[in-house]
Amino acid sequence: MKVLVIGSGGREHAMCWKISQSPKLTKLYAAPGNAGIAEIAEIADIPAKDQEGLLKFCKAKEIELVIVGPEAPLTEGIVDRFEKEGIKIFGPSKFAAQLEGSKVFSKEMMKKLSIPTGEFEVFNSAEKAMDYVAKKGVPIVVKVDGLAGGKGVVVAHSMPKAMEAVHRNMVKKVFGKAGERIVVEECLEGEEASVIAVTDGTTVRLLASSQDHKRIFDGDHGPNTGGMGAYSPAPVVTDEVEKELLEKVFLPIVNEFKALGHPFKGFLYAGVMMTRKGFKVLEFNVRLGDPETQAILPRLENDLLEVFLATVEGRLSEINLQWRDEDCVCVVIAAEGYPDEYETGKKISGISAAKEDKAIQVFHAGTKRQNGELVTAGGRVLNVVGSGRGIFEALSKTYNAIEKIFFDKMYYRKDIGHKATKVLK
Ligand code: AMP
Ligand code: GLY
Repeated sequence: MKVLVIGSGGREHAMCWKISQSPKLTKLYAAPGNAGIAEIAEIADIPAKDQEGLLKFCKAKEIELVIVGPEAPLTEGIVDRFEKEGIKIFGPSKFAAQLEGSKVFSKEMMKKLSIPTGEFEVFNSAEKAMDYVAKKGVPIVVKVDGLAGGKGVVVAHSMPKAMEAVHRNMVKKVFGKAGERIVVEECLEGEEASVIAVTDGTTVRLLASSQDHKRIFDGDHGPNTGGMGAYSPAPVVTDEVEKELLEKVFLPIVNEFKALGHPFKGFLYAGVMMTRKGFKVLEFNVRLGDPETQAILPRLENDLLEVFLATVEGRLSEINLQWRDEDCVCVVIAAEGYPDEYETGKKISGISAAKEDKAIQVFHAGTKRQNGELVTAGGRVLNVVGSGRGIFEALSKTYNAIEKIFFDKMYYRKDIGHKATKVLK
């Protein structure tokens, strides 16, 4: 089977790595990929947002299955477009992708289905939003409705910060149309976790749980990033919590989309907060998480390509996901300065040495080849992933491997997985 993976991050490298182990695979392509993906797939230099270019490529190469990594093409309707052309593609339709593309859509659906989530109001006027913020007090959370590359949420602990967030979105319009409407939400406290399901529109299978680390600095300080590390499983997500999430969140959502005539096919990711009153859903994504995927997929026993195919063909009920009974940790190596300004073009060394340990994988995020040399090409550069019997072994293997990798001004968090070790103590 000829497969195309769309995307260029660590998540897509992890997917390509896992798919390339499938006996069903005859040829793997990736668009636009990165230098790590280029070692296992043929690169098509087409941006993820160029639907027509990708379509032409799929026809020319007779691609039999397309897998979409990031959210933007999904919310722009790539699945609808490709299906119309008779091309098998894994991911939700444009309608279903609103669950990630619009916070208002997602919060309203949660309300309708009585899914536990923070109390909220929707606003399309700055004045009314500010009145509400003043009435509710801080801490409070201000979210733009549309996609904002992970920067659209402000957890405000002071009134000026809350008001500034409303002003930036609705008066200054820093996120353009995405911020025309906002959600103002109750601030929840607790431990966060990511639970991702795969669904063919009827059957739902949960992936192993995970937790990511969104802040740039140790101890969860500093600005939010695309994710600085992850581990799987997340001990806060017990079997009981998983069962409850399936019954109260995933099945109601999947049944609702089916009833609306738009079955949800693909990955459905719930970001949850484990509060003292039980879990509450913070957000939905309609794709795999990054960097959660990098810590989840090494634990998957199944043939991932078969899981994708079964989902697209509506026979996910035939598949039971099996997970290795080991822990997996992903530490992101970034360029110093990220998520603000950083330099690129730094020569990277030591990846082969890091991978000498069979428990280690190194997935690339922002890398490229320049005159034959591997260099940095983004803020998040590499994902070092280690597996072990228990979180402590996984952590020590991962951090030992990182010691072998070098580029000028590399930065990584030293405390990935520490929350899991606390829960387990
Ligand atoms: P979201 O894009 O909705 O996941 O928000 C990004 C991050 O903001 C989450 O991972 C949380 O850390 C934080 N966040 C979102 N909503 C809330 C909330 N209601 N209370 C506290 N923190 C939140
Ligand atoms: N790691 C969070 C996300 O992928 O949205």
